[in-house]
Amino acid sequence: MRNRLLILFFMSLPLLTFLNCGESQEFKQGQDLYLNYCSSCHLERGQGLRGLYPPLAKSDYLAANQDKIACLIRNGISEEIMVNGKKYDLAMAGIKDLSDFEITNIINFINHSWGNNLEYIKFVDVKSSLEACSNK
Ligand code: HEC
Repeated sequence: MRNRLLILFFMSLPLLTFLNCGESQEFKQGQDLYLNYCSSCHLERGQGLRGLYPPLAKSDYLAANQDKIACLIRNGISEEIMVNGKKYDLAMAGIKDLSDFEITNIINFINHSWGNNLEYIKFVDVKSSLEACSNK
């Protein structure tokens, strides 16, 4: 009995590793894209830059506006916003060359980095919010 359980355990290892790997590859892509496209302003650990670029780490704006973040990345934002009690009014330009899938991965990376523990965003939801704001 014990041996059988052991065999079952070892047989399921490759499957577990495989499943786990799929998830972390998306996370890894989100991380790489973040470093390429976002960290120049929001910095490597999402801490932002004094009064100029708002933080993404523990950002109350990010937590409260999850449904808007995909469009914010694609189209940019230029209104005054409050993040963790501070005002920001520099404009952020939209980043047009990221696909819907890449935007999903970046959001999920941000949502689960630097102490953030926000919901897991689904590709289909990102896709439909991007469709809704595509003419702006
Ligand atoms: C050239 C600098 C710059 C780059 C590059 C940039 N941002 Fe921003 N970002 C800003 C600024 C400035 C604001 C504030 C805009 C405002 O006040 O209207 C902002 C606001 C935000 C916000 C909302 C406020 C907050 O802190 O929660 C999020 C989320 C965000 N950016 C994510 C990203 C992501 C993701 C990327 C990369 C795909 C990115 N930004 C790239 C400058 C930048």
